[in-house]
Amino acid sequence: MKSQRVSVKQAYLLPVGSEITVPGWVRSRRDSKGITFIELNDGSRFKSLQLVVESGTVPDETLRQVTTGSSIAASGVLVDSPAAGQPVELKVAGIELYGTADSAAYPLQKKGHSLEFLREIAHLRVRSNTFGAVFRVRNALTHAIHRFFQERNFVYVQTPIITASDCEGAGELFSVTSLKLGDLPRRSDGEIDWQQDFFGRPTYLTVSGQLEAEIFALSFGRVYTFGPTFRAENSNTPRHLAEFWMVEPEMAFFDLADNMRLAEEFLRFTIRHVLENCREDLEFFNRYIETSVLSTLEHVVESTFGHLTYTEAIQALQDARRTWQFPPEWGQDLQTEHERFLSEELFKKPVIVTDYPKVIKPFYMRVNDDDRTVRAMDVLVPRVGEIVGGSQREERYDVLVQRIREAGLDERAYWWYLDLRRFGSVPHSGFGLGLERMMMYLTGLKNIRDVIPFPRTPGNAEF
Ligand code: 4AD
Ligand code: MG
Repeated sequence: MKSQRVSVKQAYLLPVGSEITVPGWVRSRRDSKGITFIELNDGSRFKSLQLVVESGTVPDETLRQVTTGSSIAASGVLVDSPAAGQPVELKVAGIELYGTADSAAYPLQKKGHSLEFLREIAHLRVRSNTFGAVFRVRNALTHAIHRFFQERNFVYVQTPIITASDCEGAGELFSVTSLKLGDLPRRSDGEIDWQQDFFGRPTYLTVSGQLEAEIFALSFGRVYTFGPTFRAENSNTPRHLAEFWMVEPEMAFFDLADNMRLAEEFLRFTIRHVLENCREDLEFFNRYIETSVLSTLEHVVESTFGHLTYTEAIQALQDARRTWQFPPEWGQDLQTEHERFLSEELFKKPVIVTDYPKVIKPFYMRVNDDDRTVRAMDVLVPRVGEIVGGSQREERYDVLVQRIREAGLDERAYWWYLDLRRFGSVPHSGFGLGLERMMMYLTGLKNIRDVIPFPRTPGNAEF
């Protein structure tokens, strides 16, 4: 019998009577009155396909080895299913066994496992319901991101991962070197001789592609970079990763208001795309992870965001008269508890906070006329807090030099960035969305380690 090879997702779209072969992994198996029921999943959609094997159709020796975790291809004919919750099932005529799975040793059993346990088996957790859903949503989200920018004629630029400059000026850098750490070359004054290193100078993994994206924006107008970024901040929180993905659009001739409009449109677009393409997966999250996921997302695509300045935000937090772990004070950065109050309680939707004190923001943000605040914008959402950070950029050469010095950075390292302000400088703006923070918002998952394939956090680089 020559039957068509299809995925589970495709099988559900075919008419009853189709003869098909479906390869995949066995999720569970149950034997009852001469019939074996097998749940087959191949990652193509949340739902598995039920295989029905009547005794005698498949050699006993083969069927015996079809256990949870094993890999097979099942051939047969699609029939109407008497079982609730599935339109069709596969009446099996033959099974090809690829790989067995010792059921005593296979860690994924039908009973639910904790997310913590699943994190320890990241090589197998992708075969579970939860992580199947997570990574299909992540795939749809990245697709939506490219779609949004490509449909608006943004140019995608691949910025470097190895860099010599600290974009955020926060010193949270991982060093990149080919020197032998146990035998570092020294200069006569005892300092490390970086000239002997691979690049002839100290280099790092990038914390952001923004500075290079600005170069491209000042030629192409609208660009975006999208890739991995690295931060050596030793904060072991459920919202921080040492390696995370960031999408960073950068637009010439955009002021802060234009920037905020784009960020809102972008977030609504990507949420709508995921709602339209991952319904089944989101329904799972809504049922088992966070009961407000669907209603929140559906509400957000229909509403505009809240807006307030940092100064107004501090006032609102102080007026709230509650006991904070970190009492709000002008000049201090907003903490997660503050961000969540503003979005979850005050506005009950995403809110954009603008015009932060310059002392708590990076050197590249445009200084306001008050000389105390900068044209910054952070997008805060319920449950997660900050998901987007951005700003209008300082386009005035003299002010920028001043800001670099104030930040304690060496302006010589930024010569090319300063050149952009010497040759055809224009007002421009951009922002960065943390992909994993957005994933937390979309799925309701509360730990960022559960929305990236292989999390890198302090003390953890397995897989
Ligand atoms: O606010 P951040 O630090 O902004 C920038 O890096 C700018 N250069 C972006 C730009 O204007 N082009 O980071 C941007 C976003 C944050 O809002 C957050 O969502 C995410 O990146 N992020 C992290 N996500 C996971 N783990 C971390 N350690 C993160 N640090 C920032
Ligand atoms: Mg930020």
